[in-house]
Amino acid sequence: MMMDLAPEEQELADAARAAMRHAYAPYSRFAVGAALRLTGGSILTGSNFENASYGLSLCAETVAIAAANAQGRLAEIAMIAVAGAPMGGAGDAVVTPCGRCRQILNEAQDVAGREIPILCVSGDGKSVTRHRLADLLPHAFGPANLA
Ligand code: THU
Repeated sequence: MMMDLAPEEQELADAARAAMRHAYAPYSRFAVGAALRLTGGSILTGSNFENASYGLSLCAETVAIAAANAQGRLAEIAMIAVAGAPMGGAGDAVVTPCGRCRQILNEAQDVAGREIPILCVSGDGKSVTRHRLADLLPHAFGPANLA
């Protein structure tokens, strides 16, 4: 499904697809890229980063969000795009964030104090869906539960 994208959304989707090129995914052969738009307009990216202990792999979204945090800019995340595809595959299916990444996005959204729209992009760039975290992770456990 190709939605009408605003120019800044298209740019973010393209940045996520470009970040797929930096995936280190020799085990799954599934490349994922994520791109964050910060409130000031700049873009930060992340790529999935696997290791020989398969389950300890880092997802692209988590890498990008941690990069924002490392710059002291966790509160500035305004939007995220994630793109992925099997290496050498058609890449015609959109990738949605895994469960752990949804929880991490929930934390980022809480810190930001506003919704972070999520663009899910197919590897070939032909399909994009826009999601709210509340739909992807309803009834989320979050910081308020610890109060
Ligand atoms: N992956 C991500 O980077 N983000 C997601 O939301 C889904 C999964 C990565 C983890 C692993 O390196 C590969 O995709 C296959 O699961």
